Amino acid sequence: MTSPTATTAPRAAADPNEAVALVLRVWRQDGPSAPGDFETYEVAGLSPDMSFLEALDVLNEQLTGTGRMPVAFDHDCREGICGSCGMMINGQAHGPLRGTATCQLHLRHFHDGQTVTVEPWRAAAFPVIKDLVVDRSAFDRIVEAGGFITAPTGSAPDANATRVPKEVAEAAMDAAACIGCGACVAACPNSAAHLFTGAKLTHLNLLPQGQPERWGRAEHMVEAMERYFGSCSNHGECEAVCPKEISIDVIALLNREFRKARFANRRLGGQSG
Ligand code: SF4
Ligand code: FES
Repeated sequence: MTSPTATTAPRAAADPNEAVALVLRVWRQDGPSAPGDFETYEVAGLSPDMSFLEALDVLNEQLTGTGRMPVAFDHDCREGICGSCGMMINGQAHGPLRGTATCQLHLRHFHDGQTVTVEPWRAAAFPVIKDLVVDRSAFDRIVEAGGFITAPTGSAPDANATRVPKEVAEAAMDAAACIGCGACVAACPNSAAHLFTGAKLTHLNLLPQGQPERWGRAEHMVEAMERYFGSCSNHGECEAVCPKEISIDVIALLNREFRKARFANRRLGGQSG
């Protein structure tokens, strides 16, 4: 490993046609219970058109070329779709560019010679597995609790057989843009998952197809969320870092649906008893 360097200030603005060098302070941790620490590496010859993940690829080539362990980080689609690539970049979830996942963050947004600190999500519900990889399965527990609809069997229904007002369809599709990356949790001072849960619930509860499970979904998803994550105190950091710019309005809908569900489920329970 290279020794820590004192370089912290940008030396010059990145020229779009010139290679960039970065000083990467990367969190290294061998396993969930191993102690972690930052290690510093200088990576030169990077194109400003490279993504941040490609800079990590270059770093890993450097490390493996000298017999050292590469930095573990999650990634899959590299197109802002799968939600696996989250990391803290200079203290910001997914880095400095709003509405952008780490895989779509380009090096032209950094300065030549800049020191960039790279850490995993920091949240008790997302324990570190190795280096920058965290276990986000707590999100799966929330989705398992209610993030589904009754699937009818048989042939596909005719198009437009179920009419959905345009504004309802648009609100549901906006919420469905959530990619489950976890940035909202990592940025929240309480590690709350209300933006994620609100997005998943809004997507289904607004649509006709989501109505059979509507009240059970609201209650069960919130209960699962509260088992793992903190409370929402309206800081709004979640919305600010969300790569899909999910509106904090989904949290208002989540709270409203949960309150209604508490009454509806008791009433339905009384009828069946
Ligand atoms: S709400 Fe946004 S930040 Fe949170 S998991 Fe979904 S896409 Fe990521
Ligand atoms: S790698 Fe899929 S969203 Fe970034």
